[in-house]
Amino acid sequence: MTSNKGVVYQSAWNLAVKEIPYPTFQDPRGKDIHHAVIIKVVSTDICGSDQHIFRGRFIVPEGHVLGHEITGEVVEKGKDVEFLEIGDIVSVPFNVSCGRCRNCKKGNTDVCETVNPEAPVGAYGFDLGGWLGGQAEYCLIPYADFQLLKFPDRDQALEKILDLTLVSDILPTGYHGAYAAGVTTGSTVYIAGAGPVGRCAAASAQLLGAACVIVGDMNQERLALVKKAGMETVYLSQDASVAEQIEQILGVPEVDAGVDAVGYEAHGHGDEDYTQENPNAVLNDLFEVVRASGGIGIPGIYVASDPGGRDETAQQGKLTLDWGKGWLKSLHIQTGMAPIGKYNYQIMQAILWDRISMEQIMNPEVIDLDEAPRAYQRFSDGSSQKFVIDPHGMFKDKVKAREKTAVTA
Ligand SMILES: NC(=O)c1ccc[n+]([C@@H]2O[C@H](COP(=O)([O-])OP(=O)(O)OC[C@H]3O[C@@H](n4cnc5c(N)ncnc54)[C@H](O)[C@@H]3O)[C@@H](O)[C@H]2O)c1
Ligand SMILES: [Zn+2]
Ligand SMILES: [Zn+2]
Repeated sequence: MTSNKGVVYQSAWNLAVKEIPYPTFQDPRGKDIHHAVIIKVVSTDICGSDQHIFRGRFIVPEGHVLGHEITGEVVEKGKDVEFLEIGDIVSVPFNVSCGRCRNCKKGNTDVCETVNPEAPVGAYGFDLGGWLGGQAEYCLIPYADFQLLKFPDRDQALEKILDLTLVSDILPTGYHGAYAAGVTTGSTVYIAGAGPVGRCAAASAQLLGAACVIVGDMNQERLALVKKAGMETVYLSQDASVAEQIEQILGVPEVDAGVDAVGYEAHGHGDEDYTQENPNAVLNDLFEVVRASGGIGIPGIYVASDPGGRDETAQQGKLTLDWGKGWLKSLHIQTGMAPIGKYNYQIMQAILWDRISMEQIMNPEVIDLDEAPRAYQRFSDGSSQKFVIDPHGMFKDKVKAREKTAVTA
């Protein structure tokens, strides 16, 4: 029997890498399934969404295996899997989705109605349907024909893995944020948050043809990556408001489109103390700076229950918004998880054909599975790295060799 190891949630701020069972062809409710594959995990990243779990702000059961940003190699397949072969390298959209319900049929895989008995949303490594996560050596992926994106060439996939690993979540998520906000040729865009999702949204906005991309954060190290990639930044601990800083860049205090790449653990800024949380901060900034008839994409997560919220209202996921101001502007607003399957093929092609290159702006650090708990802490402390776990050591040496060549060249 093949052994398996994964990042296991013990309690808030306390993760461990432990032996876990090798997957079987059963869903979380114990039903036999034949539409699944078992993958050997090639790469799996730590996400800002995992941070909500780590910090005790999104509850998962003790013992749950974390991780939803997964790229793998098919090592076993159920008898109903027709289009995938053993050895295929595949990107796993983080949304678990059946492909058969009303929402999936429309491509809205973020709100699949069948994979989670509690709510129309499923994901690996959360308590959203009980599906175990992929920060592990092996992982079960249901509805494999429908869900998985196969990379055309194995060697090419491993060569570009640091970009392709982003296709299972944050690059399509950032793209969705920008696209849903209406970003197109010549747009001006404000992206709140220079974390990995914000940086992916910024790169996506450029890919979509934006004229000027402005990213705001209070984390200077992360903003430096954005600046280095040739985009504008807004440093939020300054006294000037976001609108005033946007005016200094654009000559007007408003943008065509805005993206919330922060979510409910947002901090206040300007007159407020930026070390203090304010879950309303980003949405109210966007209501202020997005021009009338503009759009707002909100990939940043908001929840209905937050045990760590600053007060009772926040704990119930209720916000105090400048709704009247926003409403009058005839804005269009997109919330929710990103439907990765809507964008992942196109984004894979953009990577494979060198239309987009993410390494510089993402600042990836490749780590072993055992290093994951420490990396969660570093990420939470504001590190500018994107942590990419290489559970089987399939590309670590290749990346190191490439870095060495780059330095000596
Ligand atoms: N919708 C989806 O499908 C989806 C997918 C992936 C991630 N997410 C969510 O996207 C959000 C961002 O993810 P991430 O990995 O980049 O997280 P992150 O925590 O690394 O980044 C958030 C950044 O926002 C900054 N910030 C805090 N308050 C701010 C404010 N008022 N204005 C501007 N910036 C502010 C923080 O300093 C931090 O750098 C998280 O909520 C994550 O859960 C959603
Ligand atoms: Zn993620
Ligand atoms: Zn479905």
